[in-house]
Amino acid sequence: MTADVGVIGTGVMGSNLARNLAGQPGTRVAIYDRDVDRARAVAAAHPEAEFLVATSPAELASMLHGPRVAILMVNAGRATDSAIGDLTAVFEPGDIIVDGGNSLFTDTIERGKAAERAGVEFVGVGISGGEVGALTGPSMMVGGTEAAWRRLRPILEPIAAKAEIQAPETDAGEVPKPTPEEALQESSARKPETAGEPCIAHVGTDGAGHFVKMIHNGIEYADMQLIAEAYSLLRDGAGLTPSQIAEVFAQWNEGELESYLVEVTAEVLTHTDSATGRPFVDVVVDSAGAKGTGAWTVKTGLDLGAPIATIAEAVFARSLSAAAVLRSSGDTLDGPRPSSSADDAAPSTTSAERDAFVDTVRQALFAGKVLAYVQGLHEIAVGAREYGWDTDLGEVARIWRAGCIIRARFLDRIADAYAAEPQLTSLVSAPYFRDSLNETQQSLRDVVVRAATVGIPVPALSSALAYYDGIRAPRSSAALVQGQRDFFGSHTYGRVDRPGTFHTLWSGDRSEVEL
Ligand code: 6PG
Repeated sequence: MTADVGVIGTGVMGSNLARNLAGQPGTRVAIYDRDVDRARAVAAAHPEAEFLVATSPAELASMLHGPRVAILMVNAGRATDSAIGDLTAVFEPGDIIVDGGNSLFTDTIERGKAAERAGVEFVGVGISGGEVGALTGPSMMVGGTEAAWRRLRPILEPIAAKAEIQAPETDAGEVPKPTPEEALQESSARKPETAGEPCIAHVGTDGAGHFVKMIHNGIEYADMQLIAEAYSLLRDGAGLTPSQIAEVFAQWNEGELESYLVEVTAEVLTHTDSATGRPFVDVVVDSAGAKGTGAWTVKTGLDLGAPIATIAEAVFARSLSAAAVLRSSGDTLDGPRPSSSADDAAPSTTSAERDAFVDTVRQALFAGKVLAYVQGLHEIAVGAREYGWDTDLGEVARIWRAGCIIRARFLDRIADAYAAEPQLTSLVSAPYFRDSLNETQQSLRDVVVRAATVGIPVPALSSALAYYDGIRAPRSSAALVQGQRDFFGSHTYGRVDRPGTFHTLWSGDRSEVEL
């Protein structure tokens, strides 16, 4: 019996992806794990998948028909390298090794070169959606060669998440609401999950798949931090309880802010700790973990010179949250302190004032999220230029519409913006985003001012505002920085009135020389 695809690594992600593959008609899946008992247990727990269990890389190779395709679902780093080593030893020219983990894209580029020398194709695929997504349909960002993509597409496309096909818009930009009868008909005739646009694309060669996935995660960090700051503002700035805030988020999830992360936020805030009866959010230690993809996004942004301050602030906010000793050193510092307990009395505001503030926070969150996407997509554009990838940003937005963690309603808008103007320099120039930012920027300002006044840290919202003002400023303060650099280091500068490179003789007669 031969298998169509192999999956190496049978942890939760690996076994769920293998089950998803095995659920596709006519697809036979072989699984292998260094811990053979774990692979056997997965096969025993899911007899419907009819997995073939390999007990060694060589046996896996013998089970797969050629050209072979094996997907690595192991930890990034050393585990990935050793799995690649195991497979290249038994694979033949033309066979494909897919790395479906969260690998650093520069590692993927290097691994691709090494695999090429061994005659094997190596393809990095960013897979988003967590454990559930792996089983029911993830979003997949594929790198590697065109030829490998042609070979992988029939295997991976069927297991990808499917995004709803967009309804046509009316002239007023609104999606027409179905009549109750139409809604009934539609629900009974609803297409199975297999319908829709598959959330998978070839986003460029070599490490492009992992690069785009890395930026997905960077945006994920920013999105989560912005939501958390909105929560702080509602809790400590407006005195709402977690369950009230859950209702607010659930309501926001009905509008332009609709997204998986907003939905999840409402769920978490609704939850009550069974041991204490307190809101779950109040019994969790306020120190956030991170596996590193956010930091990679920031380091890469620095290397590329791509300004992604909101993503960086989100990463640093997690670092600060985890720096217990540093945080305790701030105990004696003066300034207003927001209340942080659910039992604290709400500030004395009328309900109308409170409703107005809630709506201001909604608009500020929307502006912040748009600006985080603007930054992330810009980093992709800069990275694609640097590494020579033909990455289509509209396509990236399209495949993020379902299955992945940052799936959100406005990704349709992003996809539309790039479809209308593929060479769009920045999303802020697209009419919908320009108009939305023009409408919401004042709210972003208002909440940043309010947060500063009452002492609520909102680094992501603040940096989003600074980015917004930075890109619209007719002239930046960098002119002064250039003057300083030239003063102490003869670093030279350009002039606004004529081309060329100049230096002022600061320690001499202060005349200017052209270099
Ligand atoms: C996904 C997620 C997934 C995970 C990351 C980030 O797209 O499915 O991004 O990759 O959430 O591991 O986790 P950290 O928050 O721990 O860095």
